[in-house]
Amino acid sequence: MMRVLVAYASDRGGTAEIAEWVGTTLRRMGVEAEVRRAGEVTALDGYDAVVVGGALYAGRWHGEARRFVRRHAGALERVPVWLFSSGPLDRSAGEREIEPVRGVAKLARRVGARGHATFGGRLTADAEGFLASRIARQSAGDYRDRDRVAEWAAGIARELQHVAV
Ligand SMILES: Cc1cc2nc3c(=O)[nH]c(=O)nc-3n(C[C@H](O)[C@H](O)[C@H](O)COP(=O)(O)O)c2cc1C
Repeated sequence: MMRVLVAYASDRGGTAEIAEWVGTTLRRMGVEAEVRRAGEVTALDGYDAVVVGGALYAGRWHGEARRFVRRHAGALERVPVWLFSSGPLDRSAGEREIEPVRGVAKLARRVGARGHATFGGRLTADAEGFLASRIARQSAGDYRDRDRVAEWAAGIARELQHVAV
């Protein structure tokens, strides 16, 4: 059985939950998936593929996701890798493909990622923090689309079946 790591970087839990949804779909499709916080992962031994997800803050991927990819770049180059970002607090991610931000695109190239998806984000109305509470006044809501996440993860599981053959 293929063993996949789903590593995430999240401040307010929205991206962590997307990572769990990815893990659930992978398992449903017969892939062994482990969902872990990116910062807690020390080595990639034993994983046949890796999915890395990070929240977007101020136009950048979450620092923990960036550090994860940089720290493990050597190992990531040797296995299939997919990246996702979670951010837009509107319907845009469901309406069109949103390209990765520049830093993510660069990391994707560095490790030869097979794909990237941008999913909508979530911000609760009671978000704490100077900027977050201001943004929440305008854009609070949950724009994550669980079906779209599941569809994307199912595509990964299908590709992995080809890799395994
Ligand atoms: C201070 C702040 C800055 C943000 N900047 C961006 C951004 O640049 N691009 C974007 O798409 N979303 C941005 N967002 C939305 C977050 O990415 C979204 O709320 C996401 O779901 C947060 O993920 P988390 O719950 O895993 O931390 C921002 C949110 C906050 C609070």
